[in-house]
Amino acid sequence: MTEIAGNDPVRCKCACCGTDEKALLKQIRTIAESYREREGSLIQVLHMAQGIYGYLPLEVQRAVADGLGIPLSEVSGVVSFYSFFSTQPRGKHTIRVCLGTACYVRGGKQIVERLCELLHVNVGDTTADRMFTFEVARCIGACGLAPAMAIDNRVYKQVNPDRLEHILARYYQEGEERP
Ligand code: FES
Repeated sequence: MTEIAGNDPVRCKCACCGTDEKALLKQIRTIAESYREREGSLIQVLHMAQGIYGYLPLEVQRAVADGLGIPLSEVSGVVSFYSFFSTQPRGKHTIRVCLGTACYVRGGKQIVERLCELLHVNVGDTTADRMFTFEVARCIGACGLAPAMAIDNRVYKQVNPDRLEHILARYYQEGEERP
């Protein structure tokens, strides 16, 4: 089983960088400026910007555009084209419930419904505490042990909806145990 790789943005907490929004935007713009002369670096810079800020709202896109010296429309076009870029805040962890055929017929829908209840969100939403973003997927490669879901890179097979509460609780506990 693969260890969890969350969506937690990597934010420098040193005195020079700070963590407030203005400082983060400045940091992103500075990074983008350093790529100004490198053609074709927009996607790479956007990945870094998303890593720093957590997602790519318009003000972050503007910082990237200003830093790279390109039009905002070009940046926005790329952001909206690629699904790995998000313009909405994302949770620390991403839950993907498989609704591919094998999982659907073996109870995928019940898993979705139970998670909606437990997390108080709909599919596509992020929980109010920014812990989880909840999505569905077509197939996550565990059809033989359906129904399946993934949280970040960890795949859960033969998921029992009654066990979901326990599974989610582990992620909250792991957060508490971190220094
Ligand atoms: S259909 Fe669900 S893992 Fe393939």
